Amino acid sequence: MSKLRTLHTCQACGSSQPRWAGRCNTCGEWNTLHEVVIDLSAHGPGGRSGPVAAGGPGLGQSSVPVALAEVDINGGAPMPTGLDELDRVLSGGLLPGSATLLGGEPGTGKSTLLLQALASMSSSGPTSPGRRCLLVAAEEPAQQVRRRAARLGADVPGIFVVASGELDAIEAAVADLAPDVVVVDSVQAVQDPGLGLPAGSLVQVRECATRLTAMARSSGAALVLVGHVTKDGALAGPRTLEHLVDTVLSFEGDRYLSLRALRAVKHRFGPTGETGLFEMSEKGLAGVPDPSALFLGDRLAGSPGSAVAVPVEGYRPVLVEVQALVRKAQIPRRSVAGVDPGRVGLLVAVLDRRAGVPVGDCDVYVSVAGGARAAEPAADLAICLAIASSCFGVPVPADLVAIGEVGLGGELRRAPGMAKRLAEARRLGFATALVPGVEGLGRQGAAAPRGEPADVVTAPSLAVALTFAFGEKPSVLRRGAGAGRPSDRNSLVTLPTP
Ligand code: TYD
Ligand code: MG
Repeated sequence: MSKLRTLHTCQACGSSQPRWAGRCNTCGEWNTLHEVVIDLSAHGPGGRSGPVAAGGPGLGQSSVPVALAEVDINGGAPMPTGLDELDRVLSGGLLPGSATLLGGEPGTGKSTLLLQALASMSSSGPTSPGRRCLLVAAEEPAQQVRRRAARLGADVPGIFVVASGELDAIEAAVADLAPDVVVVDSVQAVQDPGLGLPAGSLVQVRECATRLTAMARSSGAALVLVGHVTKDGALAGPRTLEHLVDTVLSFEGDRYLSLRALRAVKHRFGPTGETGLFEMSEKGLAGVPDPSALFLGDRLAGSPGSAVAVPVEGYRPVLVEVQALVRKAQIPRRSVAGVDPGRVGLLVAVLDRRAGVPVGDCDVYVSVAGGARAAEPAADLAICLAIASSCFGVPVPADLVAIGEVGLGGELRRAPGMAKRLAEARRLGFATALVPGVEGLGRQGAAAPRGEPADVVTAPSLAVALTFAFGEKPSVLRRGAGAGRPSDRNSLVTLPTP
């Protein structure tokens, strides 16, 4: 027997209230309440639909207690997607019965990435058993998907397409085909007509995503939902989908640049924080296995205003070129790309007040070449070197990398993961690394693994580091850095010039 209940659900925040009002009780938005009739006999209590099947083949759900040591973990091995950078972020691949949300702004390449992944998973070969793949094209006709697939070389017979956004049709297709992998592109275009709300509305998206994830768990298919992010970066409303799924991936990149970064924001089956890097071309997305070589490829070594930093992207150290341009201005402006604007403001102040680099009354532009990022504090020293180099018109030595955080007192602080950063600098052929060290400027002469020379030069402060990088040539540096700070002045006098 059906048991109907009427609720009024807010389109802005997703909360429900029994009576209609002009304004939502929870978020205070006006005219956002819509009437929703829920059949409690068909849906779970509280309006949540679709009972999550116990004992589903995918994630091994069961209500019977078992000893943890006896839980079988061999059945749910991840299915590699065949795209190395995607597998790196997924800790090996897609897990059967799991739900993954791939978020990103329109145009970043979500559909392209998933089509390439499906093509690779559905082909059989020595490393892939040829998975059964279903693509739900809820936004575009099947012909358009086929055309894109042909362009990408992903026009393989193992991919099945349903060009529909109706939830019932999707569930029927999954029951029919019993696929190993289901991609729904996008969850905002899926609709349960029974809810009487337009596709993309918050309640629709949440209800459809709930039913689709339950379907994945009970069928054992690995589900990937594509979610467009809104202007303010929210995924289909205020994070409503993130708790429903096992993994949340974010695909980021400037649509006018070719570089794309894939990050795991949430991951129940492995570490978050890993980053996959891709380059978009007319043939689709290609993984970037050696990002340092890519980012330094076009570097004009030996020109003023350039320094090399070694930020860690995910778990990989990556060498990037930080560029700076400084010029005198009546009303100083700061403009940055790829670095934290607040951080640059702070570094400009420290350079000006603690290291005698007169940039306080200058326009300062800082950018990381190639669309890369250097957002962590370990890039501070390289940013400072680039700014000082532009100010002096003296280049930083071309074979120098700088790694370290700069404190408000002008002191240098150590960065985590120094060994792997140094190893990456060495691999790319950099001869010298300038890093923080309390023992004053000195060469540690780190033993390079392949017998290559690699000097690790330690400096306790920004002023000392600048002296090492530029020698004592820039007169402005000597004048400013020594003023009122005997310790810095001493180190400037006694330091060996490189
Ligand atoms: P798309 O995958 O449709 O992005 P999303 O699904 O995230 O909205 O592709 C985005 C852009 O990428 C599109 O503007 C065109 C471009 N593109 C290429 O440059 N090369 C290609 O091979 C493809 C398929 C797309
Ligand atoms: Mg798309």
